[in-house]
Formats: sequence, structure tokens, C-alpha cells
Amino acid sequence: MGPPGAGKGTLAKRLIAKYHIPHISTGDMFRDAIKAGTELGKTAKDYMARGDLVPDEVTIGIVKERLALDDCSHGYLLDGFPRTLKQAEALKALTESLKRTVNLVINVTADEAELVKRISGRRVCKNCGTPFHVTNMPPKKEGVCDNCGGPLFQRPDDNEAALKVRLSNYYASTKPLLSYYEAMNVLSNVDGMLGTDKVLELASQLIEA
Ligand code: AP5
Ligand code: MG
Ligand code: ZN
Repeated sequence: MGPPGAGKGTLAKRLIAKYHIPHISTGDMFRDAIKAGTELGKTAKDYMARGDLVPDEVTIGIVKERLALDDCSHGYLLDGFPRTLKQAEALKALTESLKRTVNLVINVTADEAELVKRISGRRVCKNCGTPFHVTNMPPKKEGVCDNCGGPLFQRPDDNEAALKVRLSNYYASTKPLLSYYEAMNVLSNVDGMLGTDKVLELASQLIEA
């Protein structure tokens, strides 16, 4: 969990490389669907461009399918889901029935001025979704992904107007879920203002504890 630009995707990519579990990012799934021109992509496209949340039924549906796959039987990492109380409740019911319950929720924190800087300087790999930053985390070769050699681009929702909407949706719909997970005794905070190595180290300690 964490606001837009806190570093969820950056941390997630590093955790899955270390722990070899699937990375389930609803944002990446929607971006892949848009790229492939599927019905899901057509549904998600306008919501995402505005910074609005994609409707719960659609989002819950894709997570339901993904979590039921065999590769999630030894663990999985959700990134960007759940984002509403309805999604959190659906996830609870689903993971209980699959016997794949969520046992750790990592909340990556960062202040708003930093979020704006991170979002405006972000460049993302078109092929594998790895995020870079023009000054914080530049790729070895400008415009090229270190991970797969794919081209880097700026996300269409990384503009001032869409970011405003994303932030307000975060405060209204997603931030309240922190107390939901706190009440379930699974929530831990990680200071996302720290460097990416430190963030990875702190998150790894939580996973291994
Ligand atoms: P999504 O793709 O999830 O976007 P988001 O939540 O807005 O978060 P971001 O991906 O922008 O930020 P991040 O925290 O991953 O940061 P990153 O690691 O890239 O969702 C996009 C859209 O899809 C939504 O608006 C919605 O429309 C739809 N959607 C997705 N899930 C949905 C759901 N569940 N329900 C409904 N709709 C849904 O890092 C940001 C930048 O900072 C990068 O440039 C990075 O290099 C840099 N950086 C990262 N960590 C550090 C660090 N420690 N120090 C310095 N720089 C850092
Ligand atoms: Mg992300
Ligand atoms: Zn790549």
C-alpha cells in the first residue's frame, strides 16, 4: 500500500526478484491490457487517464482470476490492490476460500512534495514495467531499460491534472484501508523517503520476521 509515487512498484520489482513470488500489480495488468487492445483495456483506459479508479467489479474480477493460479500457492505480492473497502472485503473472502490469506501489509510512506517530484521524473519500461527516475534512479543508458533493454516512456497518467485526482482518490478511498489492516494486526509501515536499498532492507526484514 502507499500513495501514487511512494515506490510500491520499485520495491515490488526488487522483492519478487529476491523471493521469487508473483507480482500482482493491478496497474500493470491494466496497462498490459491497454497495450494489447483487449476489452479490459478498453474499459480501463479512460478511468486511468483521468486518474480515477477502475470500477470495483472489474478490478476484483481480474485479481480473482490471477490469485487462483497455481503460481500463487507459495505466496504472492499484491501492488496497488486493494484500493477500496469493497476490494479489501472481496480480497478477504477470496483469499480465505483459496487458503491464501494476506499475512503482511506493507505501507510505503512518503510526503506529498516528494510524490510530485517522483511522479514527474518517472520513466517506465514499455516491456517489463520497471520504473526509473530521471535523477533519482536513472537507467544506465538514457531511454533504455536496464532490466530488459525495452524503451522507457512517461505514463499518460503522470501529469499534474491526473495526479491530483489520483491523490484525492488515495486519501478518500485507499488511505482508510490502513486502519482496516491495522485492526487485523497485519500492517507495517516502511519509510519510503529512504533510499531504495534501505526500503528493500526494511521490507525484507518484515517479510522474514
Ligand atoms: P498504479 O499503477 O497502481 O499507480 P499508483 O498507485 O498511482 O502508483 P504508482 O505506480 O504511480 O507509484 P508507485 O508507488 O508504484 O511508485 P514507483 O515505484 O513507480 O495505478 C494506476 C491506475 O490504475 C490507477 O490510477 C487506477 O486508474 C488504476 N488502478 C490500479 N489498481 C487499481 C485498483 N486496485 N482499483 C481501481 N483502479 C486501479 O516510483 C515512483 C518514482 O519514484 C519512480 O520514478 C522511481 O524511480 C522513484 N522512486 C521509487 N522509490 C524511490 C526511493 N526510495 N527513492 C527515490 N526515488 C524512488
Ligand atoms: Mg506502481
Ligand atoms: Zn524492461
